Amino acid sequence: MNNEMKTPVLQIRHLDKTLGNRRILKDVSFETYSGEVFGFLGPNGAGKTTTIKIAVGLLMLDEGDIRIAGYDLKRQFEQAMALVGGIVENPEFYGYLSGYENLKLYARVHEGVTEERIREVVHLVGLDLRIGEKVSKYSLGMRQRLGVAQAILHRPRLLVLDEPTNGLDPAGTKALRDIIRRLAHEEGISVLVSSHLMSEMEMMCDRVGIITDGVLQSVKSIEEMVSATAPDSVTYLLHVNDALLAKTLIGAVPEDCLRVADDRTLEVTVPAEGAEETLADVNASLVKNGVRLYTVVHRENRRLEDVFIELTKGGDQIG
Ligand SMILES: Nc1ncnc2c1ncn2[C@@H]1O[C@H](COP(=O)(O)OP(=O)(O)OP(=O)(O)O)[C@@H](O)[C@H]1O
Ligand SMILES: [Mg+2]
Repeated sequence: MNNEMKTPVLQIRHLDKTLGNRRILKDVSFETYSGEVFGFLGPNGAGKTTTIKIAVGLLMLDEGDIRIAGYDLKRQFEQAMALVGGIVENPEFYGYLSGYENLKLYARVHEGVTEERIREVVHLVGLDLRIGEKVSKYSLGMRQRLGVAQAILHRPRLLVLDEPTNGLDPAGTKALRDIIRRLAHEEGISVLVSSHLMSEMEMMCDRVGIITDGVLQSVKSIEEMVSATAPDSVTYLLHVNDALLAKTLIGAVPEDCLRVADDRTLEVTVPAEGAEETLADVNASLVKNGVRLYTVVHRENRRLEDVFIELTKGGDQIG
């Protein structure tokens, strides 16, 4: 089902917020849906945390409307909040208690969280084997996962995580990312996750909204975002025994598309359309003329990182 047909879990409309005398959020509108990971991406100071704090009820909005599964944050605060779980600042735990004991304590905040549900969330975040250990012995990654477990105890429809992978090593990041994706895709939770790392978002999210300077620039699926700015050319790095000689032997592409990077590396830039066939011709002519061709590396001209930089370097022209 596409999103237009579904009811949003989180709906933010015309959100405005001024702190001190600075307008921090400017007419921000977007929606998140059940079963998706929505990435909220922006550089430092863009307004991610401010938006998130408002969405989880930690900060009042000035203007606009927020609905959670249809409940209006202003008029039906408690009903709305009952459907939200989140980690905004680092989750606080009692270090001298076990992970399980911490969850049990926290479960008392909510009605109807059974022991079985606690076991279930522990399993969902993959802490089964370590949940009996004192939290003081946990790694940062384990603490974050315990935080997620705590945040979903009461079966929220919306899970909000502000930069959850901050400070985690690659293994910890991957573990958390896998959990987040599973919660959305298998448990049907709508997950809103912020980050300033494009590559992180690319791997974790289904859709991404880019915010800069309090303005939501665009909301796109990862695929749309990449293809909307698809490269029109592709560069290959050819590792050969003699790059200078190789350059003189290639007839399939104009000379100004060839660059000798070093003695043994030739850069070949070809139009993206039909790039593979062109490359095959290039390779064939080299081999035919006696050049040793060791490896070919495809250099991606555009990563999402570049798209991000482009989208965020000022300009309100992106829609
Ligand atoms: N209490 C406050 N009073 C005045 N300005 C504030 C206050 N809190 C935050 N700001 C400003 O609001 C802007 C947005 O802050 P916010 O924390 O939402 O950004 P962010 O996107 O989460 O950034 P980061 O990536 O650094 O976490 C920043 O310029 C910040 O300095
Ligand atoms: Mg922040």
